[in-house]
Amino acid sequence: MKNSRLEIEAVGARLGAVIHNVDLTAEISDGEKDELRRALDDHQVIVFPEQDLTPDDQKEATRIFGPLLPSDTFFDHLDDDPEVEIVINDENTPPTGTAQWHADLTWAAEPPGGTSLYSRVIPKGKGDTVWASMTAAYDSLSDKMKVYLEDLKVVHSWDMGFPGRQIIFQRGGEHYIEHKTANPPIAQPLIRTHPRTGRKIINANPTFASHIAGIPQPESQGILDFLLSLSARPEFQYRHKWREGTLAVWDNSATQHMAVDDFFPEYRELTRVTFGGHGAPY
Ligand SMILES: [Fe+2]
Repeated sequence: MKNSRLEIEAVGARLGAVIHNVDLTAEISDGEKDELRRALDDHQVIVFPEQDLTPDDQKEATRIFGPLLPSDTFFDHLDDDPEVEIVINDENTPPTGTAQWHADLTWAAEPPGGTSLYSRVIPKGKGDTVWASMTAAYDSLSDKMKVYLEDLKVVHSWDMGFPGRQIIFQRGGEHYIEHKTANPPIAQPLIRTHPRTGRKIINANPTFASHIAGIPQPESQGILDFLLSLSARPEFQYRHKWREGTLAVWDNSATQHMAVDDFFPEYRELTRVTFGGHGAPY
């Protein structure tokens, strides 16, 4: 297929767009790459249907949005390639780690600017992914609340009780200690400014944000519970129904996401590549 002019179709009010008329295995011009980066900034989640991608093709397509980041989460790496993780759910591996709101690796010193996920095997009509815009959530706050939150720091911790930690633990205590030592809890601004769009973001997610620093614990819990309840509001969400051969690319700074846990024990397989370029959130 020859690349024709890109068509960007917004599919949600606050986030989500489908990109038509592009074959990600063909030559993509610099102008089109700029257009795709703009589409990601504007829509936060963009999906490319009907693609036939090898893992190398997925890496190449992901490089449009930023430098690839080798990633060491609880997913296995495909063919020992540190830049491609394989996400498999089946009867032995329920989607517990991914089926709760999170942004990827927010406990890292430099979290990914974004992630690409390519669907290889999908249980028909199930296993959707839902994203929530944390810029839209921020915009909904009162001016008084925005002032209160402005200078607070939130601690992101890999070692919270999220299910992926159990998988690392099962690989051996030494591996767990190594991972924990390499990834200490990290204080970040609760309200972060997006490095590309300048929009403000609620920089917290219930999987990795343990507490707000410097305020009493009940207050921290109450504020976090309120802020994180906003991602449940449908007007801030985009829900993607997967078909095999779709690449989704999302802005990991501006959004949270979760897999819908409705397909266990059916088989679901995706490959995942993360990219940087947003810097450290401080
Ligand atoms: Fe994720």
